[in-house]
Amino acid sequence: MVSIKSMGALLALVAGGAVQADDTRQLVTLPTPAQAVLRQEMLGNLLAINEIMAHVAEGKLAEAGRVAEEKLGVSAMGRNRALPLEARPGAHMPPAMHEIGVSGHKAASDFARAAASGDREQALARMPGLTASCVACHYAYRLR
Ligand code: HEC
Repeated sequence: MVSIKSMGALLALVAGGAVQADDTRQLVTLPTPAQAVLRQEMLGNLLAINEIMAHVAEGKLAEAGRVAEEKLGVSAMGRNRALPLEARPGAHMPPAMHEIGVSGHKAASDFARAAASGDREQALARMPGLTASCVACHYAYRLR
């Protein structure tokens, strides 16, 4: 699994050079239906991150943990299992890309556990884990 630490290293690496004229991200080809499902999920991810931050800011840790687990955590994995293969983004990702996604779900569950326990320090310490996988994947892969 890609740890948060190694993601940090990846981020440091890409932040140094990837946001430049030539795009060094790996192009991944997903079937059109899988692309549509992925984009829809991504918008949901963005919404979830925003919701979680708002709950934390308001001191509603239990709510933050609930949203994190339901929408981003391990509980949110495998949602597309019932879809036809061509509509399942994960099934067409290179293994390393898929792995970043899985580690993101795990990191969200780590945050969710800390938040559910009411330990604000721990929850805050795990917040960067909520977005590390987003950044790691976006900086390493593109669909177009
Ligand atoms: C495993 C890889 C991966 C992870 C993890 C990931 N994304 Fe994405 N995301 C993508 C890809 C691929 C695209 C499509 C990029 C393109 O169109 O070239 C995308 C697109 C998006 C978009 C644009 C959607 C649109 O309108 O088309 C948003 C917003 C987004 N991601 C948010 C997030 C957030 C927030 C997280 C973390 C909670 C996240 N993503 C985690 C791979 C990932």
